[in-house]
Amino acid sequence: MSENYSDAMLKQAVGTAHKEALKETAGENASYIPYLASVDSNLCGAAIVTADGRVFEAGDSRFEFAIESISKVFTLALVMDEVGAPAIRDKVGANPTGMPFNSVLALELAKGKPLSPLVNAGAIATASLVTGSDTEARWQRILDMQSAFAGRGISLSDEVNESEQTTNFHNRAIAWILYSAGTCYSDPLEALDIYTRQCSTLISAVDLATMGATLANHGVNPVTGKTVIKKENTQHILAEMMMEGLYTASGDFAYEVGLPGKSGVGGGILAVVPGKMAIAGFAPPLDPSGNSIRGQAAVRSVATQLNLNLFAQ
Ligand code: DON
Repeated sequence: MSENYSDAMLKQAVGTAHKEALKETAGENASYIPYLASVDSNLCGAAIVTADGRVFEAGDSRFEFAIESISKVFTLALVMDEVGAPAIRDKVGANPTGMPFNSVLALELAKGKPLSPLVNAGAIATASLVTGSDTEARWQRILDMQSAFAGRGISLSDEVNESEQTTNFHNRAIAWILYSAGTCYSDPLEALDIYTRQCSTLISAVDLATMGATLANHGVNPVTGKTVIKKENTQHILAEMMMEGLYTASGDFAYEVGLPGKSGVGGGILAVVPGKMAIAGFAPPLDPSGNSIRGQAAVRSVATQLNLNLFAQ
């Protein structure tokens, strides 16, 4: 349990991870969303939040970046709490696609079933399952869920949202394919609108590690003490993260780091150690799969230093 890791050990681990991350110099910011291309590529932060609520951080750990695909985890959590894990598996799926996060081909090959709630198609389908009286009510529930996970009020960046909404042509195609296959459960453009907004909120590495620590702590935010989601759902969410959290690099990450993870093209990455802690990294340059290179290095470093690989326990 997290009590086995002393403050000194965790402080040292996050500091070393940050230094290790800075040694990586490859990768480029995402360019298909104009806002992301404009973020300073040299920013780099790391954070650990334990399942008993202790916070350790290094570098640009308070810089607020776009959550992007990491938001898929929290909308999934919201909908799973409402409809149950079997319904998510039935309507969206629970398998890796082995293809890029915005693949139309993957969707076509599976006859319109997204397979995973963590690829764009599955996340749009999941957003279409959020209930509420109107679009704004449904969006507010997503934002409230992100805030409950982070333990503070998370906000939409109008600048990021505008940048995404005016360039999300590929996702519009995905939304319509879902709709034609019967796997978009609301108006497709509305589902896409709230999916795009959920990607456009701003979080820091400390927020991200707190969000992950809520999963590590079986659905209770260890910093606020509040129950955020049902305990029984965290295992399914973590399984999805292990299989598809880093897209086509998910297998490599499992092989090397051995933890459920989730990345976003804003440069954030999260890894969860069930019952113990969460590790977050942030740095904008990405690998070809869309995962932060320095962020992965930071997470890998902490996991190695503290022997956290689940398959090595
Ligand atoms: O839908 C998109 O393409 C972006 N808003 C999010 C993609 C993303 O973060 C993929 N992750 N690595």
